[in-house]
Amino acid sequence: MAEIQLQSISKRFGDVEVIPGIDLTMPDGQVTVLLGPSGCGKSTLLRMIAGLETPSGGEVLVGGRVVNDVPPAERGCALVFQNYALYPHKTVRQNLAFPLRMAKATAAEQERSVDEIAHKLELTPLLERYPRQLSGGQRQRVAMGRAMIRKPEVFLYDEPLSNLDLELRVKLRLEIARMQRTLKATAVYVTHDQTEAMTLADQIVVLRKGRIEQVGSPLTLYRSPANLFVAGFIGTPRMNFFQIDAAQPDANGTLLRLGDARVQIPHRVPGQPATLGFRAEQARLGEPAPGEVRLELQGCETLAVEQLGDRAYCYLRSSLGELVLMTPDAAADLSGTLRLAIAPASLHFFDANGVAVGTEERLLAA
Ligand SMILES: Nc1ncnc2c1ncn2[C@@H]1O[C@H](COP(=O)(O)OP(=O)(O)OP(=O)(O)O)[C@@H](O)[C@H]1O
Ligand SMILES: [Mg+2]
Repeated sequence: MAEIQLQSISKRFGDVEVIPGIDLTMPDGQVTVLLGPSGCGKSTLLRMIAGLETPSGGEVLVGGRVVNDVPPAERGCALVFQNYALYPHKTVRQNLAFPLRMAKATAAEQERSVDEIAHKLELTPLLERYPRQLSGGQRQRVAMGRAMIRKPEVFLYDEPLSNLDLELRVKLRLEIARMQRTLKATAVYVTHDQTEAMTLADQIVVLRKGRIEQVGSPLTLYRSPANLFVAGFIGTPRMNFFQIDAAQPDANGTLLRLGDARVQIPHRVPGQPATLGFRAEQARLGEPAPGEVRLELQGCETLAVEQLGDRAYCYLRSSLGELVLMTPDAAADLSGTLRLAIAPASLHFFDANGVAVGTEERLLAA
């Protein structure tokens, strides 16, 4: 068991409070992704788990044991960082064997483990090479192998793929996902890339300025973002947002006024909704089917089209502001008056503080 718990963990550097206080459980055998913009405190949190940074307050528990005073090497955590510092004068084999040598494993044990890991990560033909003779992706795999070789209970990753080109990033992302599935080790993975977070995580923790904005599975965050920040951060392209000028409950549900547009919602929208959000992939061009919401946009003008083959994203300016729509084909130059049909469950509402309203109703309707 290697569940990780943070209890009222805080961190300040001098006078600067970077993490005011966080409570978080990272379940055993699952991948928890810490996701957030640059400077929000992701690495600092990870480094406190690893023991490379001392918390200013609170406790770190690994497997139910408080480890605040346990040195990094004794926490059972393996670290994989973005600059995979391999020993330049050691071969791949020697790099992989190094942690075992430090742990005083016998030569036979070292050889057996190195061969096993090298096979798993397809490094066998490269064992006698030096790091400078490897590509970036190969070096990254050696670094991962070195982290894995002592079969740690916990893997800590800090943006391990950010130095790689796109193709390799996608390949190694899958590799890590596959590895995590077989190892079933507890992992904490830091990234600012939401696609990486969505594809790897069992649980995503969205951070902003050292605070937790939301914790949940990738689909929960996608379907029910707790606030505007999460709604805007999760999902590509970014969710469309429109300002709501007035929301009036009526016999048919709720009537929204957005600038000159009137939008009839078939259910009661609770609270004081100030922003309407919907995703490009959840709005359809055309007349609404029964039960769907109709939104009419005037004065539309195409700003850019992103062609992806099976679909295109059309970025538009409209009388209500800018938005992006998904269209099935290349004939995506949209202009003039556009009618959109959207399922009520795909509409998101946020109050003036950016907090989601009506999430439960939406989930029930979905
Ligand atoms: N040793 C330090 N001394 C002072 N401030 C620090 C120190 N380390 C980090 N910080 C500050 O703490 C904040 C959080 O840093 P951290 O490295 O955890 O961010 P991050 O979320 O990992 O960002 P990135 O995505 O850019 O890596 C930043 O404002 C950073 O400047
Ligand atoms: Mg960082």
